[in-house]
Amino acid sequence: MKTAITEMFGIEHPIIQGGMHFVGLAEMAAAVSNAGGLGIITGLTQKTPGDLANEIARCRDMTDKPFGVNLTFLPTVNAPDYPGYVRAIIEGGVKVVETAGNNPQAVLPYLKDAGIRVIHKCTSVRHALKAQSIGCDAVSVDGFECGGHPGEDDVPNFILLPRAADELEIPFVSSGGMADGRSLVASLAFGAAGMNMGTRFIATKEAPVHDNVKQAILAASELDTRLVMRPLRNTERVLNNAAVERLLEKERELGADLKFEDIIEEVAGVYPSIMREGEMDRGAWSCGMVAGLVYDIPTCRELIERIMRQASEIIDRMDTLRRA
Ligand SMILES: Cc1cc2nc3c(=O)[nH]c(=O)nc-3n(C[C@H](O)[C@H](O)[C@H](O)COP(=O)(O)O)c2cc1C
Repeated sequence: MKTAITEMFGIEHPIIQGGMHFVGLAEMAAAVSNAGGLGIITGLTQKTPGDLANEIARCRDMTDKPFGVNLTFLPTVNAPDYPGYVRAIIEGGVKVVETAGNNPQAVLPYLKDAGIRVIHKCTSVRHALKAQSIGCDAVSVDGFECGGHPGEDDVPNFILLPRAADELEIPFVSSGGMADGRSLVASLAFGAAGMNMGTRFIATKEAPVHDNVKQAILAASELDTRLVMRPLRNTERVLNNAAVERLLEKERELGADLKFEDIIEEVAGVYPSIMREGEMDRGAWSCGMVAGLVYDIPTCRELIERIMRQASEIIDRMDTLRRA
């Protein structure tokens, strides 16, 4: 399938694997890229710019297809060395960067000068328009359903995507709640030129995470995520567990007085124990409502090929309906 996104990024299928903390390692990105999608290494999972440079080199050893790097600008406990990460990306010859979390204006000139395509992930039409106005090449429009940070507007993709299509001139992909060929055809119907998936890609054979994480996604239904940190205006959609229940109890007790320090134990530095060691109750970890649509753990190639096959069957069926 050819769309503005496959052409822009030089990929076969219009499917992107969004950056994911402690999931978006070289193995994940290479598996998605080798299957014809766009795999993305999560920049900040690498402790230093030097570590990111190594991860980019490792990924290049595993694939000769295009892959990207995610740069997330979120409130973090200690500000990362963003200029260093940008240098590692440029010197590593990466051609696509997914920015997220905040306005990427400060890094954009460096990336653009190096000939890097920038896709900015955002959760509202106004932020998508801002990204377009500062020179991003594309946007990833992340609806309220998404795993991770859905923003504070709570607009689901049935509204957000067509609204984005009505306003934007640059190409965009849908993000949040995407799982299969139906998601892809619906995204195209809404005006997107492809789709971005997070949660669905964690439940794959190649995802470099503990099997407990994959099994937790498999076991979860669409009712099992919770929104945390809303009082801090840093809302995150996570899979419910004992730590999340505790965190939500603190939010209820402290109300408007809640501070980050109050919940630090449930949210800060918990990813390595969860993703590597499989300690599922160690803290809050991002997961989308789409967990309810995850029924198996295929390889990335099986998943992507199945999505493309199902999408083309649906399109054929629609064509038959039109002719009837
Ligand atoms: C475990 C996990 C970690 C994530 N970490 C990041 C991150 O570090 N940076 C980022 O921009 N997005 C992150 N995301 C969001 C994804 O890139 C993607 O936008 C989101 O998962 C899409 O929604 P879906 O899960 O419904 O597919 C994360 C998502 C998950 C599930």
